[in-house]
Amino acid sequence: MKAVRIHQHGDGSVLKVESTPLPSLGANDVLIRVHTAAVNPVDSLVREGIFKFSERPFPWILGWDFAGTVVDLGTSDTSLSLGDVVYGRPALDRDGTYSEYVAVDPGEIAKAPRSITLEQAASLPLVTLTAWKALFEIGELKPGGTALIHAAAGGVGSAAVQLAKHRGAHVVATASGDGIDLAKSLGADEVIDYRNEDFTARGRFADVVLDTVGGDTLERSYDVVVPSGTLVTVAGAPDADKARQLGITAETFILDSNGPRLAEIAELVDSGAIRPVVTKAFDLDDVQEAHSLIDSGRTRGKIVLRVA
Ligand SMILES: NC(=O)c1ccc[n+]([C@@H]2O[C@H](COP(=O)([O-])OP(=O)(O)OC[C@H]3O[C@@H](n4cnc5c(N)ncnc54)[C@H](OP(=O)(O)O)[C@@H]3O)[C@@H](O)[C@H]2O)c1
Repeated sequence: MKAVRIHQHGDGSVLKVESTPLPSLGANDVLIRVHTAAVNPVDSLVREGIFKFSERPFPWILGWDFAGTVVDLGTSDTSLSLGDVVYGRPALDRDGTYSEYVAVDPGEIAKAPRSITLEQAASLPLVTLTAWKALFEIGELKPGGTALIHAAAGGVGSAAVQLAKHRGAHVVATASGDGIDLAKSLGADEVIDYRNEDFTARGRFADVVLDTVGGDTLERSYDVVVPSGTLVTVAGAPDADKARQLGITAETFILDSNGPRLAEIAELVDSGAIRPVVTKAFDLDDVQEAHSLIDSGRTRGKIVLRVA
């Protein structure tokens, strides 16, 4: 099969389009014919060797988002059938989805939304699962609560704005340039142009802050959380002492795969509550170009790789 592998850590030039053996199925795996894979910042972090999820020997296949079709059920105990159209964010510690075929645990995947294309479906799992966990499981965002969502024009942010609005929250977003209109179109009630306005200027207003930027943005975000509120960051290490002094909670997490949650998200998509935001699609052969774009940190919504 055709796949993108790395044989060492490094910049985008280590991404090699190669002919590789089909994945072998573990006892509880199904085999997926991948139609589309999404590109996420974590792919670059693994490529660079900044995130190390696995001690496996090289070569590795990157990519942890996909939409495709079940083509082999192996010996797995699953309710899925051959030919089911599925999507998912498989485990990070094994070969990924920049590949014509991928072996996955069926508990990590779900039937894809029916109302959108497979290119769009592939863009959803990692970012919607991240936003859901941050806002609802950790942040416990309630209807009528206020959420501050940083980088609302990015992958996680564009999903988070929609999920928070669907939950009935008041959504304040940060963005810049044409990202401001994108954030508004996704439902943000207020958008702060972060390049020209200080989001801390309005004092403590957010029940939940979702930080996907880190650095100075994370440092300044403590000051906008209301007492007993929650700062969730997926882009840095929270400072527990600082949070305690302010009477807030600050947390981070590494996302787990979650098939049942993806089934709920598919229903939300099919009901029109949330929509995918794919702004660029590349062929698998152009993976280096796709990584160059994700490495810019300036993308809007999601970029995807057409595999099939
Ligand atoms: N821990 C986990 O499980 C987990 C899961 C998912 C993601 N993450 C991490 O979360 C981060 C974000 O992921 P992503 O997929 O959303 O990234 P992304 O799509 O690459 O984010 C790009 C967006 O960030 C915006 N941005 C950059 N700096 C900003 C700032 N200071 N204020 C507001 N917006 C800003 C950019 O807008 P402008 O061009 O207007 O600046 C751009 O639209 C990454 O570091 C990723 O590794 C972690």
